[in-house]
Amino acid sequence: MGTVAAHGLRKSFGEVQALDGVDLDVPDGSFFVVLGPSGAGKTTTLRAIAGLETLDGGSVHLDGRDATADTPAARDLAMVFQSYALYPRRTAYENIASPLRARRASSSDIQAAVQQVSALLHIERLLQRRPAQMSGGEMQRVALARALVRRPRAFLMDEPLTNLDLKLRVEMRTELTRIHRTLGGTFLYVTNDQVEALSMADRVAVLREGRVQQVGTPTEVYERPANQWVAGFVGSPRISLLACRAEGDRLVGAQGWSLPRPRWTTAEDGRPLLLGLRAEDVSVEKRGEAALPGELYGLEPLGDRTVVDVKVGSEMVKVKARPTVTGTPGERVSVTVDLDRAHLFDADTGLALATSGR
Ligand SMILES: Nc1ncnc2c1ncn2[C@@H]1O[C@H](COP(=O)(O)OP(=O)(O)O)[C@@H](O)[C@H]1O
Ligand SMILES: [Mg+2]
Repeated sequence: MGTVAAHGLRKSFGEVQALDGVDLDVPDGSFFVVLGPSGAGKTTTLRAIAGLETLDGGSVHLDGRDATADTPAARDLAMVFQSYALYPRRTAYENIASPLRARRASSSDIQAAVQQVSALLHIERLLQRRPAQMSGGEMQRVALARALVRRPRAFLMDEPLTNLDLKLRVEMRTELTRIHRTLGGTFLYVTNDQVEALSMADRVAVLREGRVQQVGTPTEVYERPANQWVAGFVGSPRISLLACRAEGDRLVGAQGWSLPRPRWTTAEDGRPLLLGLRAEDVSVEKRGEAALPGELYGLEPLGDRTVVDVKVGSEMVKVKARPTVTGTPGERVSVTVDLDRAHLFDADTGLALATSGR
């Protein structure tokens, strides 16, 4: 078993409220990602769960049992940090073996376990090297191996890929999900990288300023963001938000445009709203009835696609287009909107409007 639950975690450092009532329920065997910007409280949450931080309030349950007062060792959790925290004078083999030695495992058991985990992480050839003789990516694999060899109740990982270059980071994402599938076990992984979160997680909790904004599958968080902030944080290019109001069967923009009101929205007339448009749900290449009049502002070629920035009045809409798209800044363009895929938020509360039948 390996369920991890945190309820109402509160922690302040002087004036800073780092955790403001954090609730997390991490199912046994899941790859659970906490996603949030720097300073959101991710590290503090992990440290609190690991027993490395004294809390102002809240509780931690492991396998359903209250572990709030347990020592870090009694919790039987393995933590992997952004900095690798390897013993500099020991070889990779000795680093990986160290948790087993601390447990007084027999040397044949240790050897078998180190061999197995080294094969899984493709680091057999590094075993006799010391940290100074390894690259960052190699050290991170050794640090992971040292955590994995223990078979703890759950793994807590604090942005373990942050210090790797982009290519290695992408490779290690795939590796980590493969390792999770192979070994099983509960992974609680924190990151500020939304691509990492969406590509690896079974479930994501989005954290901002010490509060969980939304918990769901990657698809739910992306397709049905609970509020304007989550919609802006998850997704690249960033979702475009346009001020508007519902008026009868129309949606009327603050910048003078008007669109048919989406069938699914429950907005009351006159209430200030924000229309959220993801770049892949709008187009400058199609023709359709639901369109915003705009002016081409710039093109951002990204190889497999080009992002077109269109100014609609004084607001900007980002549009994902084919790489062959052309245009000159200042040219008039029409942005076709797929209203069935649009989002609406209450401009005052930021909350997503209730939708029906979508
Ligand atoms: N030991 C500490 N002393 C003072 N402030 C801290 C300490 N640890 C964290 N904080 C503050 O608490 C907030 C949350 O920090 P942290 O959990 O490290 O966020 P994250 O890991 O999401 O970047 C930040 O504002 C940070 O500056
Ligand atoms: Mg952190």
